[in-house]
Amino acid sequence: MNIQTIMVVGAGQMGSGIAQVAAASGLQVLLHDTSPEFLKRGMLSIDKQLSRSVEKGKLTQDGMKEILRRIQPTEFIELAEQADLVIEAISENMALKVLLFHRLDGICPPHTIIATNTSSLPISEIAAVTGRPARVIGMHFMNPVPVMPLVEVIRGLETSQEVFEVVCGLSERLGKIPVEVNDFPGFVSNRILMPMINEAVFTVYEGVASVESVDKVMKLGMNHPMGPLELADFIGLDTCLSIMEILYEGFKDSKYRPCPLLRKYVKAGRLGRKSGQGFYTYSS
Ligand SMILES: NC(=O)c1ccc[n+]([C@@H]2O[C@H](COP(=O)([O-])OP(=O)(O)OC[C@H]3O[C@@H](n4cnc5c(N)ncnc54)[C@H](O)[C@@H]3O)[C@@H](O)[C@H]2O)c1
Repeated sequence: MNIQTIMVVGAGQMGSGIAQVAAASGLQVLLHDTSPEFLKRGMLSIDKQLSRSVEKGKLTQDGMKEILRRIQPTEFIELAEQADLVIEAISENMALKVLLFHRLDGICPPHTIIATNTSSLPISEIAAVTGRPARVIGMHFMNPVPVMPLVEVIRGLETSQEVFEVVCGLSERLGKIPVEVNDFPGFVSNRILMPMINEAVFTVYEGVASVESVDKVMKLGMNHPMGPLELADFIGLDTCLSIMEILYEGFKDSKYRPCPLLRKYVKAGRLGRKSGQGFYTYSS
């Protein structure tokens, strides 16, 4: 199967990154979100990333224009009928994703593969609302997409071998390294990472150390490039909370209980970098 046109649904931090790397690898990209402002924000972020590569001499001005020309922002999900592959990167919410997959299943031609970039939701359950569970798969990119080499490729219960191979091949074409993982809550990456972040929040909540000290311990002592709280802000505290809820629900094990402080911050609108405030404060 030759993938030429893809649609990325959701022009947030992940969707815009996925659209950028796909266009840079020569694919035609339709970037869909629900409003012109979200699309504009997504395109601006791609523009900013590419401009940085031009400044560093990694990309020419013409190369940048060429990449941007291959991305068509659109409010119309119906254009998914042109896509060989759709990559969904909307908010981490099962109800929203299920609605979207049902809709996409009705729009896309039978050959289209529909992938989800979910961080933790069950692929098999999302696939079950479509009439094509064999063509639904998890394609979990890491943040920031243009920089991080990993794609966790998650097989749902019904995902076909052909679809798995096509998606691994495409990940390589995007310059990424696919790693096969089975469909369990949090997969591998977030099953390990999120409880660590949640535990870091607990250490602040229980007064064991300050935000800065927790991050310093993990950076200087464990050689982590970013502290867990800095990383939580970067990922988005709402996304972190959603993933902990999914682990807690999925395994029914109290060791995944989200820290009340994480919940409090999300309820207050402190979502991390994207809202300007999380464990740290950001100017722009
Ligand atoms: N942030 C991370 O570090 C990270 C890493 C890997 C995977 N993910 C996953 O990627 C997905 C997106 O995360 P994000 O951080 O980019 O979120 P985000 O909040 O930055 O972006 C989500 C975008 O989806 C749009 N959206 C919401 N509902 C929509 C719909 N029905 N149709 C079209 N667009 C819709 C929103 O307008 C928004 O622009 C989530 O499933 C998340 O778990 C996130």
